[in-house]
Amino acid sequence: MELCVALDLPSAEENLALAKSLKAYDIWMKVGFRAYIRDGKTFIEALKAINPKFKIFLDLKLYDIPNTMADAAEEIAKLSVDMFNIHASAGSVAMQAVMQRLANYPNRPLVLAVTALTSFDEANFQMIYEKSIESKAEQFAKMSYENGLDGVVCSAFESRAVKAATSEHFLTLCPGIRPFGEDAGDQQRVATLELARQEGVDYPVVGRPIYKDPNPSQKVDEILKVITTL
Ligand code: C5P
Repeated sequence: MELCVALDLPSAEENLALAKSLKAYDIWMKVGFRAYIRDGKTFIEALKAINPKFKIFLDLKLYDIPNTMADAAEEIAKLSVDMFNIHASAGSVAMQAVMQRLANYPNRPLVLAVTALTSFDEANFQMIYEKSIESKAEQFAKMSYENGLDGVVCSAFESRAVKAATSEHFLTLCPGIRPFGEDAGDQQRVATLELARQEGVDYPVVGRPIYKDPNPSQKVDEILKVITTL
């Protein structure tokens, strides 16, 4: 497992201060809509300047027509980030267009597909997709695997089923992790690190339990100790 920290603080200054406090650790940093729309490419460069071994996951969840997604994927590859994501519901043709375009980049970023957003409840999900979250997540994972993506974003509770339907090597990145059972906040289904390990999660994403902790670097230290012993 490799820890991914969500940089969800309200300003670039606060996110960079958090990153600086964690610079001793070669971990993943998740840059989402808010930070990227506001702070852009210079924010990614500032993170890499703090620790060149930070790995960057650009969480922009692309969803558009195939050619536009391939164009965006190419621009993302030029940013030298290490991972980004698209929506699986953009479909096979879009997935192929993205992967074909990235074939020109020998050190291309990993590409993940979002299966079902965890904010959906079953009823609202079925109004759009006409299937249960579980069966659709599995179908989306298979589609992503068959079209050459590297993995999916899913809940820790779906990780095992995703791998069973695809491959042990197909990556799962899972938000909603509460390493030691901390406050769930607005997350509906949360998993501890131990449960994430049991479910084969590759990248546990942790936001609030780290940045709301009075000592984020100590928290990361504790998480990494557990990850290496699990
Ligand atoms: O603070 P917390 O650990 O709950 O943060 C989880 C992070 O993962 C947030 O950045 C949130 O936007 C993101 N995320 C999520 N559920 C998804 C996709 C992304 O919680 N399905």
